[in-house]
Amino acid sequence: PSRIRVHHLQQAKERGEKFAMLTAYDVMMAEIFDQAGIEILLVGDSAANTVIGYDSTLPITVDEMIVFTKAVSNGTKRALVVADLPFGSYEQSAQQAVATAVRLMKEGGAQAVKIEGGHEFAEHVRAMVLAGVPVIGHIGFTPQSEHALGGYRIQGRGDAAESMIADAKALERAGAFTILMEMVPSPVAAKVDEVLTVPTIGIGAGNATTGQVLVWQDLLGLGANRTPRFVKKYADLRSVISSAVSQYHQEVVSGAFPSADYEFKE
Ligand code: KIV
Ligand code: NA
Repeated sequence: PSRIRVHHLQQAKERGEKFAMLTAYDVMMAEIFDQAGIEILLVGDSAANTVIGYDSTLPITVDEMIVFTKAVSNGTKRALVVADLPFGSYEQSAQQAVATAVRLMKEGGAQAVKIEGGHEFAEHVRAMVLAGVPVIGHIGFTPQSEHALGGYRIQGRGDAAESMIADAKALERAGAFTILMEMVPSPVAAKVDEVLTVPTIGIGAGNATTGQVLVWQDLLGLGANRTPRFVKKYADLRSVISSAVSQYHQEVVSGAFPSADYEFKE
């Protein structure tokens, strides 16, 4: 299967078709998601939560993001691999953003990056695009700004809708190839998709965006924690894994494993 490229996503929007993005952080899950036909694999800074165990995305470093990005690009033949610019790795200047994006592509094998923030980062987006980096803009609830936003809250309600639409337009003008919206009222997300030429991706943003994204551990029911309302759990991997591992443990302590089938003869 040939690679998904940025222009394929643009074509999807123009044809009224949809596409799916899913997070991935390691080679085996990346292989499964890629072979299942997911168009975009996101090496999210949500790895801070889902892989490392921090309670926010703030602590993850560029070096850590590079390790996860390498693993995902090694497992991917068709999907577009996008890596997040982590907190602290791009805010200071457009040049800092370019330098980090180049590392994620050169050392990690990413084919595009995602940056949190609105019009205030348009200059950063433009500089990355000029350097040959395809960029996704992430607006609405932006987890790296959790403390500034006062926690996990829906963004773009009421009067804030207009400035969100303006942010989306500014990022598109700066050259972003897609705008991702997190926790936004669905009519506002629909409006953003309508006024933009480029495709949109939603998470907790309703059904009118061009694409959707979820964190894979949420989608597959791996985590112990309650998931947000916008998550649909398509499997219960936590119980599948837990019962298999308990059975292994039982069989080891009882001596049932390894039976003769699993041993080497003389
Ligand atoms: O890091 C992440 O997983 C994300 C998605 C939730 C959009 O940014
Ligand atoms: Na992220």
